[in-house]
Amino acid sequence: MTPLRPLPSQPDVHAVILAAGQGTRMKSRLPKVLHHVAGRPMIEHVLGTTLGLSPKSIVIVVGHGADTVERQVGNRDKLTFVRQEPQIGTAHALRQAEPVLAGLSGTLVLLAGDVPLLATATLRRLIEVHRQAGAAATVVTAIVDRPYGYGRILREDGRIARIVEERDASADVRQIHEINSGIYAFDLDPLWDALRAIASQNAQSEYYLTDLVDIYRRRGLPVETLTIENAAEARGINSRSELAEVSRIVRQTKNEELMAAGVTLIDPATTYIDESVEIGADTVIHPGVAIEGRTKIGSACEIQGSVRIRDTEIGDRVTIRNFCLIVGARVAEGASIGPFAHLRPETDIGEGARVGNFVELKKTALGPGSKANHLTYLGDATIGAKVNIGAGTITCNYDGARKHPTVIEDGAFIGSDTQLIAPVRIGKGAYVGAGSSITEDVPAGALGIARGRQSNVEGWAERMKPPSTDRDES
Ligand code: UD1
Ligand code: CA
Repeated sequence: MTPLRPLPSQPDVHAVILAAGQGTRMKSRLPKVLHHVAGRPMIEHVLGTTLGLSPKSIVIVVGHGADTVERQVGNRDKLTFVRQEPQIGTAHALRQAEPVLAGLSGTLVLLAGDVPLLATATLRRLIEVHRQAGAAATVVTAIVDRPYGYGRILREDGRIARIVEERDASADVRQIHEINSGIYAFDLDPLWDALRAIASQNAQSEYYLTDLVDIYRRRGLPVETLTIENAAEARGINSRSELAEVSRIVRQTKNEELMAAGVTLIDPATTYIDESVEIGADTVIHPGVAIEGRTKIGSACEIQGSVRIRDTEIGDRVTIRNFCLIVGARVAEGASIGPFAHLRPETDIGEGARVGNFVELKKTALGPGSKANHLTYLGDATIGAKVNIGAGTITCNYDGARKHPTVIEDGAFIGSDTQLIAPVRIGKGAYVGAGSSITEDVPAGALGIARGRQSNVEGWAERMKPPSTDRDES
């Protein structure tokens, strides 16, 4: 989703995100809000949406797996964590934010940590509607085909009167298709006092925040609703199945954006591109590709099938052939990688360079126009321009305790099946004979050769033949 331009900080808007619940239906040891939606923890989607509002403060209510959630989200500007223990309902959860927000006036936006499709624009609209109406509370509602599981909106004379939870609903109420999204705006002034009036006499013996609607009505405080058109935005994730479905929606949106910007996705349904990824026009992405994290891909590239790329920067006109894994690397324009190549972190492939099949690089710069085409490991190496790395070349960079560097200068030629035992340097334009174990530097322009000399034993095969017998060989 295209991020909206951030607003100037809004001094009288505060946000609370409820994220203390266990998420029982996930059947997971991981707190629900840390499960990934399209490559990013659910809570990060919600935090991003909330930050788009530029609120003065954000409080996250944590409980189940609190330490893990706090550690994962980390310390951030404007952000406070409060703990809810035990987790006995949404009203009780919100009350935990009172010590942080008490005494403040203005608007509180409340949302749950499990609504990753929610857009910032919707929250802005919510604040607008809430303020224009002069409401004490505004509830975001949606009309959905399958209301099962949600709280239902009961109206009297068109106005919201109450919210009834699924488990407390009569058969008639269950027929209502207008649901509570769990997203609200509140005027801070009457809120804390009213929350204390909520009781837990219901099917789950929990303190329901939704009871506030009825309480406000009886106190004569105006409650408004904002019914959103795109009901998908309000989708809460409760199960792994919903996780997959919502992830698909997020990916689909990203894919649509990329295609609109000139990227060809041969099969969007099997293309997995994180929201944070940037791709230039006329790049073609084949089926079964995953592009993740902070990855940037240039224009007119071809990413063939079954490739995974993460946190990598790729220039224009690069070809990544089938079955490559590329993480934390940089690939300059016109280079060609794969098939079956593994580029590990801090790999830097120069312009027009080629990396072929079954080649692994780690912390290695391969200079412009250089080639490592077959069956090779290059680690902790600095390789210049126009170098040819023969098939089966290995940098022996690790002595069991420490890593050592290999330097190969411009125009050098490394013969096939060479071991470069680091630390070692191959000078400019030098040659290394095939099958060498190079332990010492090779000066510029020299030939380094380090292997057993060949000797041929004439007539050996004849002499080794067993004495002939009458029996046939079997
Ligand atoms: C809630 C609403 C329901 C609405 C639905 C929308 C109530 C009583 N019901 O139901 O009307 O249709 O959301 O998705 O509010 N949480 C806590 N502490 C708790 C309980 C929950 O922090 O003690 C958090 C959860 O982590 C979650 C959010 O509050 O992020 C909603 O809780 P959940 O149990 O999913 O509520 P629903 O049953 O979905
Ligand atoms: Ca629930």
